[in-house]
Amino acid sequence: MNRPPSAPRHLHLPAVIGLVALLTACSDTPPDPASLQAYARQAMPEEAALAATYTRSCQACHATGTSRAPLTGDTQAWGRLLNKGMDTLVNNTIQGFGGMPPMGLCMDCDREDFAALIRFMASEPKQPGGSS
Ligand code: HEC
Repeated sequence: MNRPPSAPRHLHLPAVIGLVALLTACSDTPPDPASLQAYARQAMPEEAALAATYTRSCQACHATGTSRAPLTGDTQAWGRLLNKGMDTLVNNTIQGFGGMPPMGLCMDCDREDFAALIRFMASEPKQPGGSS
């Protein structure tokens, strides 16, 4: 919310790179962590209502990776999560999961809202350079 415009965040780069290398071991076009972070910071659902919901809830963590939240647009991370099934992911969001508070801070979201938000965060980055 009150993030300063471009405060340099301390990143554990070797750890991030190691993790990405691990996750992309089977892919010949590994996403570079910096562009993933840059995409996540400004990504927004196209639909206005969903964008508003995203802005006041999930974005706080999933746009920055706070407490290791999977980044919006990190299709590798979300791909693995989606293997659990959308129902499980929605249930985990409602109950809270690891570092994520119950309801992902969206108290008036229903299951469909959560599924739409998850689908958005899990979708391929749409921007030049974000192709894969
Ligand atoms: C306060 C920070 C925060 C907010 C706000 C937040 N999340 Fe999360 N979310 C996390 C963290 C941290 C994790 C990783 C939890 C872990 O694996 O320990 C996570 C993980 C998830 C997961 C994966 C759960 C699983 O089964 O592995 C889903 C799905 C998810 N978030 C959806 C959402 C949605 C949808 C919203 C908005 C309505 C949201 N989150 C808002 C922090 C947050």
